[in-house]
Amino acid sequence: MQTPILRSSQVNRTSSLIDFGIGQPGFDLLPLDLMRQSADARFAEGDTELLNYGYEQGDGRFRQALADFLSAEYAAPVTPAQLMVTAGASQALSLICTLFTQPGDTVFVEEPSYFLALRILREDFRLNAVPVPSDENGLRIDALEEALTGQRPVFVYTIPTFQNPTGHTLSARRRERLIALAHKHDFWVVADEVYQLLHYSATPPPPLAAHTDSGRVLSIGSFSKILAPGLRLGWIQTAPELVQRFVTCGLVESGGSLNHFTSNLVRVALEQGWQTDYLAGLREIYQRRIGAMDGALRRHLGGMARWQKPDGGYFFWLEMEKAVDTAALLPAAHAAGVGFLPGARCSSVGGLGHYLRLSFAHFGEEEIQEGVERLGQALARA
Ligand SMILES: Cc1ncc(COP(=O)(O)O)c(C=O)c1O
Repeated sequence: MQTPILRSSQVNRTSSLIDFGIGQPGFDLLPLDLMRQSADARFAEGDTELLNYGYEQGDGRFRQALADFLSAEYAAPVTPAQLMVTAGASQALSLICTLFTQPGDTVFVEEPSYFLALRILREDFRLNAVPVPSDENGLRIDALEEALTGQRPVFVYTIPTFQNPTGHTLSARRRERLIALAHKHDFWVVADEVYQLLHYSATPPPPLAAHTDSGRVLSIGSFSKILAPGLRLGWIQTAPELVQRFVTCGLVESGGSLNHFTSNLVRVALEQGWQTDYLAGLREIYQRRIGAMDGALRRHLGGMARWQKPDGGYFFWLEMEKAVDTAALLPAAHAAGVGFLPGARCSSVGGLGHYLRLSFAHFGEEEIQEGVERLGQALARA
């Protein structure tokens, strides 16, 4: 049986387990005051429209504020017409699958990939998710071209920037080639860009969202990683004609905006610049946490594992000796008071058993150092 992954409602705040498997922001980082101020300001506007059904594509003023924020952060123009409000990135992916695929359709995924996206694709939608290898520059385009000689996917699901789990970023050249192939072979690129704005030491290439005009890209974004996951607020950025596919589906026609209330509160945070300031603070904190984790790994896992210090995102991706089975090591690690995500969970072909993923987002620097020390001891004993 696989070790269950804790969702935030299950994360035990008093547990002494330092579980680097938790890919969520720490409780100390969640912006309670910012959200209280945003809510106060929005409620003070005194209009009950806030509590009605919302406009199908998402509130217009929210989309304008989001478009302005993204244009500044991406250094590339984003318009409100390109944005569809969703209840987070997971729901965006699910909605794309609902509208663009049939059970049994083929989609391509990176190997490795975000383990819960693989579940959505394979288990929720019964899609044939075909893995395409990746390396330190992201999805391997040569391997994609080869895969395309045999079959045409409905879409390629990629996490191009600070990938989950590897932390790798698709190079600018490969981004161009991916879009060219999408045109040539008539598939969509579903770009899960939830880590695009979490850059700490190097600015990544422009997001695939910058290729929106190609009509081939569905870029998924989320406030889960840049503000708070409990908001359940995200977006799809795509060509306006594709936005119409979402706006006219039964789910949205029946229920209206997928997150009207919360988007109204977050609109204030965007307009006031509070989101921008909060993100700047997060970048500093996460950069320090990366430094703490990298330093501790060097001290305690030096000869045992290989890794690259990430420039952004949430994760370190560690490669152990081939003979090591990280899933089998997890109980011993838990006994030592530390957890991680075994690499095999991120593989769609049952590979990568000698890898493990560590998130530096959930714990502070001292706990990171303590947790890595425990990990080193558990691995040394194994
Ligand atoms: C690549 C990726 N996509 C989506 C999600 C989930 O995003 P959301 O909370 O917006 O559904 C995560 C969270 O770990 C993620 O790593």
